This record gives sequence, C-alpha cells and structure tokens, in this order.
Amino acid sequence: MVNVDRDVFNLDIPDMTIEQFKKYAKFIHDLTGIYLKDHKITLLSNRIRKRLRELKIYDYDEYFNYLTNSDKSDTEIIHFLEVITTNESYFWRTPQNFEAYKKIVLPDILKHNHNKKIRIWSAGCSTGEEPYNIVIESIEAMKELGFYLFEVIATDISRRVIEIAKQGCYSGRKIEKIPEQILKRYFRQNPHDPEIYCIREDLKSKVIFKIENLFEPTVENVHVIFCRNVMIYFQKKEQQELAMQFYNRLLPDGYLFLGHAESLQMLETPFKIIHTPYGTIYKKEI
Ligand SMILES: C[S@@+](CC[C@H](N)C(=O)[O-])C[C@H]1O[C@@H](n2cnc3c(N)ncnc32)[C@H](O)[C@@H]1O
Repeated sequence: MVNVDRDVFNLDIPDMTIEQFKKYAKFIHDLTGIYLKDHKITLLSNRIRKRLRELKIYDYDEYFNYLTNSDKSDTEIIHFLEVITTNESYFWRTPQNFEAYKKIVLPDILKHNHNKKIRIWSAGCSTGEEPYNIVIESIEAMKELGFYLFEVIATDISRRVIEIAKQGCYSGRKIEKIPEQILKRYFRQNPHDPEIYCIREDLKSKVIFKIENLFEPTVENVHVIFCRNVMIYFQKKEQQELAMQFYNRLLPDGYLFLGHAESLQMLETPFKIIHTPYGTIYKKEI
C-alpha cells in the first residue's frame, strides 16, 4: 500500500478518469442518495485526492477496492462520507423559516397538542447550527406562546459532523448572523479563545444527535421536520421517496420545512402546500 518512491517524490495525483468517476458516482448514489453530475469530476477528484494522500494510496481504482472490498471498508466508509458530503451550515440561515415556525407552525401545533412534548426533527443537521437554532427559536417563541415542552432530534449521515455538533462550539461565519443579544443570552464565550462561542450546556441537552442515513430513518412521530439544503443533492426519484418518508413520519397536522432552493411542487405528495408571508411550508393535513 505504501509506495515509498512516490511518497518521496510527492507526485501530484491527476483528476480521475470519467470511467472512474462513474464508478464512484454510482457507489455514492447507492450509499447516500446523493447524485453527482459529470461536471463534478474535478470536485470529487479534489476531495478524494486528500484522502488518498493521507492513506498514501496514489490510484483511484486502488482506493475504490480498499473502500469496497477490504477488511477496513467499514471504517473507511466513515472517512469517505466525510470527504464527499457538503456540510455548509450556519446560524440564522434563512431566518424566514424560523419566523414561520414561531408565528404559524408552533401556535397551530400547540392548539392540537395541549401539554404534549413537541418533537422537532432536524434531518441532515450537519455541524449542529440548525438544531441549536431551532432550540433557541423554540425558547424565544415561549415569550408569546407560554411554556411548552419540546425536544429536537438531529440526524446526519456523517459521523464527523455529529461529533462537531455535540461539542456545540462555533466561530467566524457560522455565528456572524446571530443577533447580538441572542449570542449573549444563549452562548458562552470560550475563556481561552474569545472568537469561539459555545452553546449553553442546558440548551445542548434539548438535542438528541444520531448518525443516520435519511433513507433508513428510525425517527418517527414528530410534529415538525426541518430538512433544509439536503434534497438539493438528490434526484427526483430520491426526493420523492424522501418526501413520502417525511409524510409518514410526521404526526397528523405536522409541518415540513425545506431549504430556500428546494420545493415539493414537482413531486407527487399528499402534503398541503401553504404559502405564507415567510415562504412556502408543507403540512400533513388529515
Ligand atoms: C448542506 S448541509 C445542510 C445543513 C443544514 N440542514 C442547513 O441547512 O444548514 C447537508 C447535510 O446533509 C447530510 N446528508 C447528505 N446525504 C445524507 C443522507 N443520505 N442521510 C443523512 N444525511 C445526509 C450531509 O452530511 C450534510 O451534513
């Protein structure tokens, strides 16, 4: 496996061939549902190249065999998922969603669920910004709506992002949109590095994190699902499957939020499409 000569000369690894790309793209699709168009060949090569260097493997075919056939494949899949998933996320992303959540969705749900714990699923939660944002907005909503119980279940296929999410510490672009008073109220500045803000410990306990493939979910009986900026990576067939999965896992009168570039309009689902001043939301109306 270790090629000493090539390691010494540190030869550059070229982009993969189109045949290699197609082999990887099919594997990724079967594993995650993510669809890669042919023009992503350079992007995928760049991402895998980093992992090849770490392993001192200098050939995409050799790595593919390592990934799919070796006794290391189980653990290697975890690394592979880290390099192929796009995990971009930040607090206060599409804040209109949270306005709709506080002003329309929660009041409706609480009307039907007096004294029950409200369950919210952040599906494809990445490094935790979305589920913690839901916790903060749920607490903020109580000022208007009165006290209620809630929990957030947050899932992602990548182990790395779930580990970062559990730590709950952020800096830079990830927190720059958070209003000042919210940052002060819900976060604690790291005493060793004032650039880093960590979500308060008591708020962390509101979120249950799980490593889970969206196409093999265990989460069910939820009142609200946030699945934002995830469907965009799937083709229509997988989007359809996922939308129905969400429908079945929502409780009656539950709601679904998608990302701003995503929609159910082109799919066939029983969801009721609701246009609100804060954008489109989807309801399981029975
Ligand atoms: C761009 S991030 C979106 C994060 C967050 N929802 C937001 O809007 O800021 C997409 C996330 O979906 C996850 N993902 C992609 N395919 C998945 C699958 N099949 N099952 C679970 N998570 C998946 C990725 O690992 C990534 O963390």
